[in-house]
Amino acid sequence: MMEPDQDRLDPEALAAELGTTWLGRPHAHVGSCPSTNDLAAAEARRGASEGLLVTADAQTAGRGRQGRIWHSPAGTNLYFSLLLRPRATATHIPPLTLLVGGALAEAIASLGFDVRVKWPNDLLVAAGHRRRKVAGILTEASTEGARLAHVIVGIGINVNGVGFPAELADKATSLRLAGGEPLSRVAVLSRILAVLEPAYEHFAERGPAVAISTWESYADLGRRCRVVVEGREVEGVSEGVDPDGALRVRSDDGRRHRVISGEVATR
Ligand code: BTN
Repeated sequence: MMEPDQDRLDPEALAAELGTTWLGRPHAHVGSCPSTNDLAAAEARRGASEGLLVTADAQTAGRGRQGRIWHSPAGTNLYFSLLLRPRATATHIPPLTLLVGGALAEAIASLGFDVRVKWPNDLLVAAGHRRRKVAGILTEASTEGARLAHVIVGIGINVNGVGFPAELADKATSLRLAGGEPLSRVAVLSRILAVLEPAYEHFAERGPAVAISTWESYADLGRRCRVVVEGREVEGVSEGVDPDGALRVRSDDGRRHRVISGEVATR
């Protein structure tokens, strides 16, 4: 049984488990900050090198996708941001986010969880009769002309949290709630970085198709879903993702649609 005070997240604790060559190095840890994505972006602007990891025990203004708040209470979960400097254009951001989602799914599955990824990058685990969200990814990029100057990949994972605000109670879970045991945050983080480092190297060498195949292997494709395409609600079945990261949905009248941004509601 792991006590909370044993669950340290500082550089010394991570270094004891981290097996990567460059990802997660160097590692900066803070007790609390508004958002680790902001700290990592500030370091990126100061010239920090690819691989930098910023972790926080708590965030006071954690951000989710689509302007949402990311619930970030102290000491129980993982809130971290990675600095990447892909030699690519902004078109690579959606597939890069899928790559991270696929790697995250692979790492969580390797810890013994039944995990799925919901487009574009919600990680869901089986909790009771349903799947609930356990992790999410917020990718924020800075460009110089057509090229990417840096990409900040922010990841939030509910590891040991057991209480959620009322509006999330029905949708969110944690690895602890799903698996019945507390987990060491450092063990989860080092596993993720170990899976992501080679996946990203492969992506950098071979391009977006690499990202899609792992993502699809954990995706809940072939399910009925509701999406908004060009302002119109479409109901149909999700079929896969294109190399640019768009979700393909076939509607009931047989037409095919590409969803570039937004949310998917599953039935
Ligand atoms: C989502 O699913 O909406 C994305 C959530 C991303 C949350 C993480 S926590 C670490 C990093 N800092 C933030 O402010 N957001 C991301």
